[in-house]
Amino acid sequence: MIITIDGPAAAGKGTISALLSKKYHLVSFDTGMLYRAVGLQMVLTGMEITNVEAATAIAQKLTFAQMIELSQHPDFRSDVGGQAASIVSSYQPVRQALLEMQRNFAKNPTFADGTPAAGVVYDGRDTGTVVCPNADLKIFLIADVEVRAQRRHKEFLEKGIQKSYEKVLADMKERDERDKNRSSAPMKPADDAVIIDCSTLSVDDLMKIIMPLVEQKLSA
Ligand code: C5P
Repeated sequence: MIITIDGPAAAGKGTISALLSKKYHLVSFDTGMLYRAVGLQMVLTGMEITNVEAATAIAQKLTFAQMIELSQHPDFRSDVGGQAASIVSSYQPVRQALLEMQRNFAKNPTFADGTPAAGVVYDGRDTGTVVCPNADLKIFLIADVEVRAQRRHKEFLEKGIQKSYEKVLADMKERDERDKNRSSAPMKPADDAVIIDCSTLSVDDLMKIIMPLVEQKLSA
């Protein structure tokens, strides 16, 4: 079983992915981590973020172990990591370099301890359109940008990151625009994706919509 969950930042993809993974014994793959790892390495090695060749070279050499190591860095999940990821992810050769890694992951899905999984739940921007066009179930989550900015602002406050709501909102709008308008694999729902607006839905409400869709596929 392959499920893809795409959509803009802070739409709830990670939360839903984690819940589906637990409930249906699927290993989850947060594909944004790959782009964050490349973006953060560019920042840490002092490369100009506009240097496509350098970003491509980093992407070509990236391993899962490196990605996990970089994910421990305080800027991996910060805005520095997010903005750098968003910029390098607009480079077609970077996307190409990371594509096989994402596709291969579904070939023999296993949990971190080596036990086999019943499938994969991917989350990202293009996992239903480009990474797994044949996925069993494709979800595209949307939510009003103000709602997403409020969620992200709350997360920052909980982590002790001082950033005004207005700045979070402005940065999120900028990232949405870049992700939607890039020429290579722009963020958009696959033709066969189920689009769910979760602006006013709780996580429980959302799961009540998604679980029957998964179960329908499992029993097919
Ligand atoms: O999901 P997350 O916010 O961690 O992703 C960071 C950035 O990586 C996104 O803003 C997007 O530009 C890029 N990304 C992408 N394709 C994916 C996943 C993430 O372009 N499949």
